[in-house]
Formats: sequence, structure tokens, C-alpha cells
Amino acid sequence: MTEKRSSIHGQWSSRFIFILAAVGSAVGLGNIWKFPYITGENGGGAFVLVYLVCIALIGVPIMIAEILLGRRGRQSPINTMRSLVQDEQAHPAWSLLGWGGVITGFLILSYYSVIAGWALAYVFRAASGAFNGATAETIAAQFDGFLSAPLSVLAWHSIFMVMTMVVVARGVRGGLEKAVTFLMPALFVLLLVLVGYAMSLGAFSEGLDFLFSPNFEKVFYHCEVTAAGVEQCRFTGEPMLVALGHAFFTLSLGMGAIMVYGSYMPANASIARATFAIVAADTAVALLAGMAIFPIVFSNGLEAAAGPGLIFQTLPIAFGAMPGGQFFGTLFFLLLVFAAWSSAISLIEPAVAWLVENHGMKRVSAAVLMGVLAWILGIGTVLSFNLLSGEEFQLFGKTIFDLLDYLTANILLPLGGLFIALFAGWIMSRSASMDELRMRDGMGYKTWSLLVRYISPLLVAIVFFNAIGII
Ligand code: TRP
Repeated sequence: MTEKRSSIHGQWSSRFIFILAAVGSAVGLGNIWKFPYITGENGGGAFVLVYLVCIALIGVPIMIAEILLGRRGRQSPINTMRSLVQDEQAHPAWSLLGWGGVITGFLILSYYSVIAGWALAYVFRAASGAFNGATAETIAAQFDGFLSAPLSVLAWHSIFMVMTMVVVARGVRGGLEKAVTFLMPALFVLLLVLVGYAMSLGAFSEGLDFLFSPNFEKVFYHCEVTAAGVEQCRFTGEPMLVALGHAFFTLSLGMGAIMVYGSYMPANASIARATFAIVAADTAVALLAGMAIFPIVFSNGLEAAAGPGLIFQTLPIAFGAMPGGQFFGTLFFLLLVFAAWSSAISLIEPAVAWLVENHGMKRVSAAVLMGVLAWILGIGTVLSFNLLSGEEFQLFGKTIFDLLDYLTANILLPLGGLFIALFAGWIMSRSASMDELRMRDGMGYKTWSLLVRYISPLLVAIVFFNAIGII
């Protein structure tokens, strides 16, 4: 038995606060901005089903594993992995997991902050009444106009990055902890209001159909008509990889964010129970967002596959048309910014905790250093939607933003998650994991062990290698 560690960065004040902070990290742009647009791009129902299966069979067991490693190590992911490697006398290469996470978090934050900046700009736009009575075309033109001005997009990105640095500098357990307590439930209620509005639209059932009726052929077979006029269809694993990657992204898994939050978790709290609460809240928010957005898409004859602008081109139409829309619209984008804020801080917390531990840096300096680096890289994403959007600036048909998103969500997070599962399932001793999970060798532990040792790693490996063309 190793001695129990404690974190030098302090602890969450209660089990409930841990769950709130983790929900704050999980619920963000991933649920409200990304989930609807990738669902639209990937044909709807069948994609959503694969995503839900990934959440249940991969997300849940790996979240338990990641929290478990964090609470056992009680340090930044880099040092946690180092200590656990020593405890288990494992190969030192496992420590790379911590490093990979720090880099992934930094890459994600760079574009996350830009999109959060869009949401921030839209708070003011909504408040100014710009959406009142506007048509779908006007709303789309407003969004295009907004994106085409790099300096203003850059300014919003800068403001959001400063907000993130301020909270991380003060310690994640400070101010935001309290804000999240009532802002998250408020966001949830507002999404219900939006779904209520969507129900009043003629296309509500069409929207639900799109979201929940799986049509596997449409999603997984791409058909082309050849020169000879023959239709040729072939299977594509790509939507599965996007669904898998998004399961990691939306739950904040695979890069140490949940691990570092787990390292501040009180010793007596149940990891499994916390995980179920976090996953349930995160999934509910994503599905509600989809239920609000797709009816608006179909009742206005818009394109479901519109891409990253989808929520900015749909929800304002609803706010422009509904009673009290100016108020609800402002509030909605404000709450979205808060949701993004409480997620963004978890993206640099692993790096900041590490700089404090190993380099004796002050939290403030560490937060500023990481924030400024991510801000600089973020300029690439700012320009991906205007000056550098042309084909001559693309690689494999992808802009800088697309590349960063693909590399992080579809490659680095699944790989990180795979190694977290393997470490918790195969390297860590059963006595250590049982002890940390506060479980006996009963059904619960056996199920988790089966999932984390065999099922999740196999599924991740199959989807991953299939999509990159190896199997
Ligand atoms: N889960 C957040 C969202 O859905 C984003 C996020 C925060 C994240 N921390 C993370 C994604 C760590 C991956 C890894 O908006």
C-alpha cells in the first residue's frame, strides 16, 4: 500500500462542488455549438446513436478511470502519472500521457477561446435588438459579416482569453465555483424554453426525426454516381470517429482535465456516482440543444450541414421571433459564455498546476504564460474564417481551425483516453483501483473492469484505425 497523498493546490469544498466543477468543465461549447453542427454534418440520427453508445461504453468507464488516476496521484497529470508509474513500477513511457494532455489542452484552448469569443460578441448583438424580427437571410448575413472582420473577432477572442487567465490565476476553486452553482441550472432552464419554442414550430417532429431516427445507410454509406451513370456506394468509418472523438470532447476526457479535477476531489466521495451525474447532465444538455436547433433549421429551410456557424445562424431567428426574445437571446448567449468559461479553465489547469509544482511558478505567471501562448495560436483560428479561409491556405482540404479540431478531438483525445483506460485497467493493481473507487469485487467493479480493460480500448482502437485507413 502506498501512503495516501494530498494535493498542494487544495481540495473542492465538498463532493457536490466537485460534481459541479466537472459538469462546468464538461458542459460547454461542445454541447451547444459543436454537437448540433457535427450532427447536422453527419446526417443525424445514426450519428447520434453511435455518439450515445460511445458515451455509455467508452465515456463512462474512461471518466471513472481518469478521475481515479487523478485522485490517486493528487497532482497535475504530469506528476500524477509519474507517481503512479513509480507506485506500480510501470514503464516510464506512461508518463508521456501527462505531457500529451498538457499539449492537447493547449491546442484545444486556442480555438475554443475564439468560438467563445463569437458567443461573447453575440451577447451584445442580442442585447442590441439586432435579431428582432430578422429573417433567416439577415441573420446569416450578420454572421458572415461578423466573421469577415478579423480584428473584431480577434478582440473578442482576446477578451475571453483574459477572462480565462483571470480565473485560473486566482485558483480554479475560487470564484467560478460559486457562479457555476446557479448558472448551469439557468442554462438548462433556458434550453427548455427554447425547446418549448421549437415545439410551436411546424417542423418540430421533423427536427426530432432528424435527431433520433437512425438511418445508417445515409450516414455510413457515401454514394456517388460514376461517369457511366452507375451509383456506387462505399462504407465510411469517418462519422464513427467524429462521434467517438466528440464523446471525449464533450466529457472533457483524454487530456487530464478531469484527472486534475479528480486530484482535488474529497477522499470520501464516490467516483462512480459522480461520473453518472456528470455524464447525465452533459448528455441532457447536448440533446436539448439539438431539439431546440433542428426544428428551427427545418422550419426555415436552412441547411443542417451548415457547419460551425449553425447555432449562430439558427437560434437568433428564434430569438427574433419569440416574445421576450431580446431578453432571452441576451441571457442565452451570456450563459453560453459562462458555460464556455467554466470549460476553458479546465483546459489549462493541468499545465498551470504542473508549472506551479515543478517550476515554483506563481499561479498568476503560469496562467498568463499558458494563456498568452494559446492566444497566439488562436490567431490561426480567427483567420481560418476570413483571410486564410481560401483553398490555397488549406491542407487536406482543411483550414487551420479544421486541422486543430481534427487533430485534437479525433486523434489526440481518443489516444489519450485509450492509454488512460489501459493504465487504469492493466497497469494499476486491482487492489489500488478497488481501494480508490471504494468498491468491493462485486458487480459494479467487475463491469467497470471489463469495460475499461477490454471493451473501451477495443472500440476506440477499431474506430480509430478504421477511420485512418489502417483496418
Ligand atoms: N467539454 C468541454 C465542452 O464540451 C470542452 C472541454 C473542456 C474539453 N475541457 C476539456 C474537451 C478537456 C476535451 C478535454 O465544451
